[in-house]
Amino acid sequence: MIEIINTLQDFKNKRERLSGSIGLVPTMGNLHEGHLSLLKESLKENDQTILTIFVNPKQFLQGEDLDKYPRTFEQDIEKIKSCMHEDDHVIVFHPTNDHEIYGTSFNTTIKVESMNNVLCAKFRPGHFDGVTTVVYRIFSLCRPTISYFGQKDYQQYQIIKKMRDDLLLETKLKMMPITRDENGLALSSRNRYLDHDQREEAQILPQTLKEIESILKRGKVEDALSKAIEIKSKYSAWQYLEILDSKNLEPLSDTTKEVVIAGAFIVGSTRLIDNRLVLLNHAE
Ligand code: PAF
Repeated sequence: MIEIINTLQDFKNKRERLSGSIGLVPTMGNLHEGHLSLLKESLKENDQTILTIFVNPKQFLQGEDLDKYPRTFEQDIEKIKSCMHEDDHVIVFHPTNDHEIYGTSFNTTIKVESMNNVLCAKFRPGHFDGVTTVVYRIFSLCRPTISYFGQKDYQQYQIIKKMRDDLLLETKLKMMPITRDENGLALSSRNRYLDHDQREEAQILPQTLKEIESILKRGKVEDALSKAIEIKSKYSAWQYLEILDSKNLEPLSDTTKEVVIAGAFIVGSTRLIDNRLVLLNHAE
């Protein structure tokens, strides 16, 4: 059964009546296979699933794509239905305006200080504060047993995890692997902005991350670090290309066990991000 709820009050009433384990899949809509992998995992693991669809203005900077961000509600519902089995119960919370998620006098910002001036945060100041603020609000409304996020937004996941830990929130978190198209490009709602040639160019992003991964897997950490610097300096389309400790997004240290290779790459006016996680084998 699928239920669609559009108002804050109706959602609160619904939540009061729910029992059993609740999986939460927060989204901004325009669902693709990546989102659906989160949904399927939640359906498998929980009595009911809440999927939220809300394009959160607080996480868009001035001049970003808030107005043109794809809103495809009807198709999203069809995709959700296509993942469901007869006994599944999905509640879609789709606030029709900002008040239906924030209320009328919302005046709080949730800001995680750490990990908030590297990678995407360096180029989108305030973005993650918008994310943590809305995710905190969604957690409070949904009180989920477990919440599902995609690895593609790795920094987002780590920042939300820090917020969860610091604020003693009850929800468990689960990160699902990146879903890629047949050419290795990580699925993203923003891929629809790319034309044919730009899609080809975009492949540089996953291919480069893979190349650096293979250097790291051979135990050549120093080589991988200099390769990343070399590649980035040759092509202005790279906004960043970095190898950091996956635990805290800080530079590698003697205690680093796993790294994240993270890149942001601009094709036309579309900004794409991707990452790979690699366990270090300390062969050097
Ligand atoms: O990853 C996203 O789609 C958004 O940042 C999220 C987590 C739904 C918050 O608006």
